[in-house]
Amino acid sequence: MDTSVKVVDGVHWVGVRHPDLKVFDDLFPTRNGTTYNSYLVQGAEKTALIDTVKEPFAEEFFSKVGEHVDPAKIDIVVVNHTEPDHSGAVAQVIEKNPNVQIYCSKAAENFLKQLLNRSFNAVIVSDGDEVDLGGKTLRFILAPYLHWPDTIFTYLVEEQLLFPCDAFGAHYCPDKLFDDEINEFYTDFHFYFDCIVRPFKDKVRDALKKCEGLPIRMVCPSHGPIRRSSGQFAIESYARWCAAPSNDGKPKALLAVLSSHGNTRDMAKVIETELFAQGLDVTTFALSDMRDDDYRDALEQADVLLIGSPTIQRDAPPQVWHALALISSVTPKSRLGAVFGSFGWSGEAVKMIEQRLTGLKYKLVADGITFRFTPTTENMDTCRKFAEQVAHTVLCEE
Ligand SMILES: [Fe+2]
Ligand SMILES: [Fe+2]
Repeated sequence: MDTSVKVVDGVHWVGVRHPDLKVFDDLFPTRNGTTYNSYLVQGAEKTALIDTVKEPFAEEFFSKVGEHVDPAKIDIVVVNHTEPDHSGAVAQVIEKNPNVQIYCSKAAENFLKQLLNRSFNAVIVSDGDEVDLGGKTLRFILAPYLHWPDTIFTYLVEEQLLFPCDAFGAHYCPDKLFDDEINEFYTDFHFYFDCIVRPFKDKVRDALKKCEGLPIRMVCPSHGPIRRSSGQFAIESYARWCAAPSNDGKPKALLAVLSSHGNTRDMAKVIETELFAQGLDVTTFALSDMRDDDYRDALEQADVLLIGSPTIQRDAPPQVWHALALISSVTPKSRLGAVFGSFGWSGEAVKMIEQRLTGLKYKLVADGITFRFTPTTENMDTCRKFAEQVAHTVLCEE
């Protein structure tokens, strides 16, 4: 069986490997499995666990903890984040020691209550709070939405170790635990960011600001290798990927269009021309053959999203719903939107798309417009006015 691994004196990795995992959370493919990292920190007076592991791996986890201390003697569990891949063994820790203190954020306490359905001894932490284990001081940094509202980072002051839970992690199950013992895993590191962290770029910027000036010797994430020699690289990568979108130049409109018979496309051309005339830059995507990554990048730079769609079988086509589904996988620069389209025998799509955008917290900057079959000259005039109104609102929001 696998054994614990020393990180520094008094700190051991007591996590587990899950090399066979093919899809994480039934959502994201993992080419190289994953690990659930937990860390045991032993001070002169107290012993703390930083996170636990996924529940089916609890036995192996407690066996590793038991190499150093009786699991019933754990004084503190820091729950950096309550998702069950990290809190899965917390219930068993509490069973072994009902007096164990659970250090966590207020949001984590609420989540944990409903995950465990039992009472526990919570200590709610604020930014900068510390607990002294006896020569080993844990300091807490609130990092909400990295990637759940509950997330905190834990920093071991004397050793300069950062435990950021899911941030800076990778679904990658290496033979050895440290980055300098294995081949590079950049692709998995970046893919993990893209799947898990990308929707929260603004929150990453907030968290990075709080960590500025903090000496960090190692980054010890909750998945994948410990960054003993490349902690700064991981942090700098996040800073680069999460840089704030530029406000230089003209405001940008993203025009995403699907047109079965050319009528919605004709409307889009008039709208595009008017948006240009009003002083906006316009990027147009044909939803039938766009690359998801290009569209996602454009969403993060766009000041307004316009969707043009026909109504097909009393619905918007699947490509339109797919484009709408991608919104929650990124951090859109703005949440301003407008919808237009053509139809033949019924015209539900525009309203349905508006409802979806509203559900995604978008503000509709113009009433949607929809015309039957070939747009008339008057209809095109309405398209121009629609674009004018969109541009006006976007320019006023600048
Ligand atoms: Fe998570
Ligand atoms: Fe996780």
